[in-house]
Amino acid sequence: MNFLNQLIVRFVKLLPKPVVYLFAKKYIAGKKLEDAVRVVKELNQKNIMATMDVLGEAISTKEEALAAKEECFEVLDAIKNNNLNANLSIKPTQLGLSIDVNFAFDTILEVVKKAASFGNFVRIDMEDSPYTDKTIDLYRKIKAHYPNNVGIVVQAYLKRTMDDVIALNKEGGHYRLCKGIYVEPAEIAYKDRERVRKNFLDVLKRMLDDGNYVGIATHDDPLVEGAYKLLEEKNLSKDKYEFQMLYGVKENMRDKINADGHRLRIYVPYGEQWYAYSVRRLQENPQVAWYITKAVLKLD
Ligand code: FDA
Repeated sequence: MNFLNQLIVRFVKLLPKPVVYLFAKKYIAGKKLEDAVRVVKELNQKNIMATMDVLGEAISTKEEALAAKEECFEVLDAIKNNNLNANLSIKPTQLGLSIDVNFAFDTILEVVKKAASFGNFVRIDMEDSPYTDKTIDLYRKIKAHYPNNVGIVVQAYLKRTMDDVIALNKEGGHYRLCKGIYVEPAEIAYKDRERVRKNFLDVLKRMLDDGNYVGIATHDDPLVEGAYKLLEEKNLSKDKYEFQMLYGVKENMRDKINADGHRLRIYVPYGEQWYAYSVRRLQENPQVAWYITKAVLKLD
């Protein structure tokens, strides 16, 4: 990483939002639902599925959670009305989990109920570790009502994940498996890159061995290769898993996975609350600082 990139990563929070938006544009569909619908249509034309996400987390009032629920309803309506090949991803704290567990359960249940009425599906994203147990609990309860319309995310960096998966597999899991994006303490999370990769592939194997549907969410070459190998060894039919990637990330890999004939879903975030998500993307891959530089210097 060159000096300029390091500087941008360190001081990104001091940059004016319009400047940050210049690079954010690469990772979000836009600020409006219609932007996300346009992006998903483009993906669908390439035979790529989507999961749509209304950006926003860390809310502090029930009113905000209820407003987020209404936005989720609008996304589900838009998917139906535009005949999109897409489902919905939600963040539990955005729908009230940090305020009141029972309230969040009711709110998320309503979203899943609406999705189910359209034959659609809701993926419950996994946030940081204070919410792991609560999120798994919510998922289990909601799945009892709508077994085919809800899925959960598990994070390979957490040491507990294999145990969680073994337990959840008994009830039939519908998973997205990712590395995990939050900064967690070493007591509960693997810090070594290779150890996280190993756990990812071990957990993936266990999920598939037990016959669960898995969204394999990564852009990491060794993990994609490891997953390919596992799928080949198991001779698994293509309707038993899918790959998942983030919008704007590693499009060459995306096109290769798609061309290889695997199901592929892109996570398409949009919304007015684009800032926190975009800063996380930048901090995760400082190379994208180059996009800011290019945008600011108008090199495009
Ligand atoms: P890694 O971080 O090693 O990336 C591999 C390579 O991909 C990098 O070297 C870089 O080239 C490229 N790359 C990765 N991220 C990039 C970026 N943002 N911009 C540009 N290039 C990038 N996490 C979580 O805790 N809870 C969740 O619910 C989800 N949900 C989710 C959904 C989907 C569809 C995906 C793909 C990911 C998530 N994540 C997540 C995020 C996940 O945990 C993880 O942080 C990222 O996927 C990055 O990890 P990789 O496995 O891609 O490897």
